[in-house]
Amino acid sequence: MYYSDELVEEVRSKNDIVDVVSSYVRLQKKGANHWGCCPFHNEKTPSFSVSSSKQMYYCFGCHASGNVYTFLMQYEHYTFPEAVKILAERAGVNLPEVEYSAEQKAKADKRSQLLAVNKEAATFFYYQLRSPHGQKGYQYLTERQLSEETMHKFGLGYAGLNGAMLVKHLRSKGFSDALIKEAGLANYTERDGLLSQFWNRVMFPIQDINHRVIGFGGRVMGKGEPKYLNSPETPVFDKRRNLYGLNFARTARSGNIILCEGYMDVIAMHQAGFTQAVASLGTAFTMEQANLLKRYTEKVLLAYDSDGAGVKAALRGIGILREAGLTGKVINMKPYKDPDEFIKNLGREAFQERIDQAENSFFFEIRMLAEQYDQQDPEQKTQFHREIARKLCAFSEDVERENYLEAIADKYNIGFENLRKLVNRYAAQNGDVRPAERPRQAVKAKQGPEENVKKAQRLLLTWITDEPQLYPKLCKYIEPEDFTDELYRKVAERLFADLDRGEFHPADIISTFEDEKEQQEAAALFHTSLPEISTKQEREQAFRDVLLTIKRNSYEYYTSRLGTDANALNQVIAGKKALEQLAVMHISLD
Ligand code: UTP
Ligand code: MN
Repeated sequence: MYYSDELVEEVRSKNDIVDVVSSYVRLQKKGANHWGCCPFHNEKTPSFSVSSSKQMYYCFGCHASGNVYTFLMQYEHYTFPEAVKILAERAGVNLPEVEYSAEQKAKADKRSQLLAVNKEAATFFYYQLRSPHGQKGYQYLTERQLSEETMHKFGLGYAGLNGAMLVKHLRSKGFSDALIKEAGLANYTERDGLLSQFWNRVMFPIQDINHRVIGFGGRVMGKGEPKYLNSPETPVFDKRRNLYGLNFARTARSGNIILCEGYMDVIAMHQAGFTQAVASLGTAFTMEQANLLKRYTEKVLLAYDSDGAGVKAALRGIGILREAGLTGKVINMKPYKDPDEFIKNLGREAFQERIDQAENSFFFEIRMLAEQYDQQDPEQKTQFHREIARKLCAFSEDVERENYLEAIADKYNIGFENLRKLVNRYAAQNGDVRPAERPRQAVKAKQGPEENVKKAQRLLLTWITDEPQLYPKLCKYIEPEDFTDELYRKVAERLFADLDRGEFHPADIISTFEDEKEQQEAAALFHTSLPEISTKQEREQAFRDVLLTIKRNSYEYYTSRLGTDANALNQVIAGKKALEQLAVMHISLD
């Protein structure tokens, strides 16, 4: 935890959830709650509720839930410390500086200096583009049909013919030669001293996800080499871990991210409304970038050039996505070379169609493979089939492999059984199919006795948060230890401890978890739908049933741990007594 619990709670309590959510979602008060259309899934009628008394939100459609921190983490994809920082600023709460060692401090200072000089350079390029010196660049971008708004959004600029001008400007702002050089903005030359290598180029500032300029790409005007010149890596510019356009794409909420080849593609796509487009930084797509994307999406669509190099890059990308556990699809750009050209010629609707029709990455791989073999030649055709079988072995899950086997056999007119035999043969040779390369999606929660118990535990937690006055009636029988799931127990511990002190802040309990998934799960504990009950008697019956289910489970749980868990014996004795009492007790809920 970066900040103390007290501070996290103070910041949370000073940011009313209704206010914060209102700046993203249109809310209407109805009954005890505020309602709006859920920002986390598509819907036309509001099922997203924000409770002012609980200071939590919950969607009855997609079950998104949490407190004000979870909301920002889910919506803006902030990390927990980032969310704390933003909300502290909003409420005017001072956060303590995190303690750094001298070495860490020097490093942080260097980073902030590099970011500062980059920002100044970006400003310089930006004004150059709009000055008489920049006419050539402005005309180029206009000819490529970029609007002023788009150029502004991406902070595009221009580096004029004189490479000394940038250096002069940066020096005048007090930046040292050493820093300018370390930022990759200029190099020493024997004749002219420090000179920028960026000249006669339109400039694309590369931003990290927090919109800070970490490097540049520059496209030469006319026919120069290289066509695109990129900043070298620096302590703030790691090309393997950043993606162009991700600062905007991360909040696009389109359900997918589109990976393109270059800066111009990203910009053209955003201008056409596809704000989920990103590109790698003049280098090949990396595993680190795939993992970065995984924070925002499960589905990545490749929009690489349709030429040979593009196909090769796509095939590489598919492998990386698969290894990262992301679903990859390939967008067909034909008859155009890249998204930029495609959109210019056929427009955004046509491109949307191509997105909708994007090809499953395995089918794409096999189709590309097919082109390498002469299907009329039996020898080559056999080779092709063998290659398919080899690739099919990579699916470690039987069902998935069978489904692909069936689809491919059908598509390429191969006998299903023959292909299957081939696959089995290779599988046997390789020591069965390849082990799972990626973690499988969590299977849906089982509906078993365990789930019933958990449901009872959730029900009780919701019940208490809805009617905290019931707590004294149950605390004689139920304690946090009765919640046998670890996360549930943690939540109960906090909730019960608060109530023992006569306090009640369920929303704070959620931020004792830093992980967004855990926050969601914790918040959901307060949003189980209570049984629809009409009479007082039924209500009391239901309440007692819930207590009994929880207690019985706890009794069994600790009984099975007698001898291995020091705490078990006490729990068993207390559990037995409570069960006996509950069996005969009348619990009045008046
Ligand atoms: P392309 O050569 O396809 O560039 O390289 P492009 O985007 O079509 O260029 P325009 O449309 O003529 O301006 C694709 C991407 O690869 C990177 C750039 O990001 C480029 O957009 N690249 C290319 C480099 O970094 N350096 C190069 O020399 C060439
Ligand atoms: Mn291009």
